[in-house]
Amino acid sequence: MWAFLVLVGAAVASAHLQDQTFDGHKVFRVIPQDNEQVEIIRSLASKMKLDFWQPDSVKMVKPKRQVDFRVEADKTLEVEHLLKENKMDFNVLIDNLQTALHAQFDSKVRGTGHSYEKYNTWDTIAAWTADIAAENPTLVSRSVIGETYEGQPLYLLKLGKSGTNKKAIFMDCGFHAREWISPAFCQWFVKEAVETYGTDSTMTKLLNSLDFYVLPVVNIDGYVYSWTKDRMWRKTRSKNTGSSCIGTDLNRNFNAGWCELGASDRPCASTYCGSAPESEKESKALADFIRENLSTIKAYLTVHSYSQLLVFPYSYTYKLAKDYNELNTVASAAIQRLTSLYNTNYEYGPGAATVYPAAGGSDDWAYDQGIKYSFTFELRDTGKYGFLLPESQIKPTCEETMLAVKYIASYVLDHL
Ligand code: ARG
Ligand code: ZN
Repeated sequence: MWAFLVLVGAAVASAHLQDQTFDGHKVFRVIPQDNEQVEIIRSLASKMKLDFWQPDSVKMVKPKRQVDFRVEADKTLEVEHLLKENKMDFNVLIDNLQTALHAQFDSKVRGTGHSYEKYNTWDTIAAWTADIAAENPTLVSRSVIGETYEGQPLYLLKLGKSGTNKKAIFMDCGFHAREWISPAFCQWFVKEAVETYGTDSTMTKLLNSLDFYVLPVVNIDGYVYSWTKDRMWRKTRSKNTGSSCIGTDLNRNFNAGWCELGASDRPCASTYCGSAPESEKESKALADFIRENLSTIKAYLTVHSYSQLLVFPYSYTYKLAKDYNELNTVASAAIQRLTSLYNTNYEYGPGAATVYPAAGGSDDWAYDQGIKYSFTFELRDTGKYGFLLPESQIKPTCEETMLAVKYIASYVLDHL
């Protein structure tokens, strides 16, 4: 009897129990062929709660462009019926989201502590930031650049050998809560830096000549919420006046064509731009830090998922950036490095044309501040698991991404 209870307890703990269950939820993929079919998806979205995975808003659905969205359990039959009735081809990417949600925890690494090959909770990541700095005092230091809406400290790690007049590269992860592979990459990058300094010639050169600022999780409140309450949460957790809906999309909250294209001014939308640019404490803290260090920061990298893309400005306009040619060349070479490892296919290009127009992003803002080398990564995969990328893919994903990041950093160093 007691043994049975203990077993049940263990099963519940390892199942990462959440308040929200996704039993029976499905993720559909449709490629609308024409405007009429786009309209059908729009009307579907207005009739029921659809969670758009890719693109991230119904407004961005276009003919011939694939769209992935989550449907709640009691609506899946109706959606299937409607799609069939209108002769629209579709795939069910994920048949039962709750099953996929458990399947992501497939790491072979045992135990509850920090691991680079597991998704770590915020508490574990926070403790790790202190430990990695304490263990590598000549290479890593930790500071706090602000706090989140719920009062969590925004930890920033600075990596690099001490030196004078060093330029820096800023990289952040975890803008969007549900994109768990992103914080995993920032942790992996720090690990690689401390473990390969002195043996890997590229890394040694980079850390001798440059500093890296790594912000492992920007949207900490959302990340915590995605672990404890709703795995599919995207936005921050701030209250909105006059609405019961929570949160702002941090990557629509920067002062770059703010709230014009591909963003929503409705607080309930998943791409809500906020009440003003930098209305969120998290985007404000990040922007303040970058403004204060504008003379040293030469590159801005921000890590998202999923889609396997490397995009650069602009996303708030279809106009090509002044540095389009150079950025495109750098992106192409970076992706060539990334693909060389596991043959993972990536696309690259300016945001608006390559993905969709989406104003208020941190990449465009950083670029307009004068940080020429500004890139957004969208890591694995292309939709098989989407945001629920299994832990067994953390290592290969991070390994290949390292090659691209090291390429960009080396390029920046060579062009100071
Ligand atoms: N999926 C990312 C987002 O929607 C794309 C970011 C590209 N950059 C941008 N400024 N929209 O936030
Ligand atoms: Zn994102």
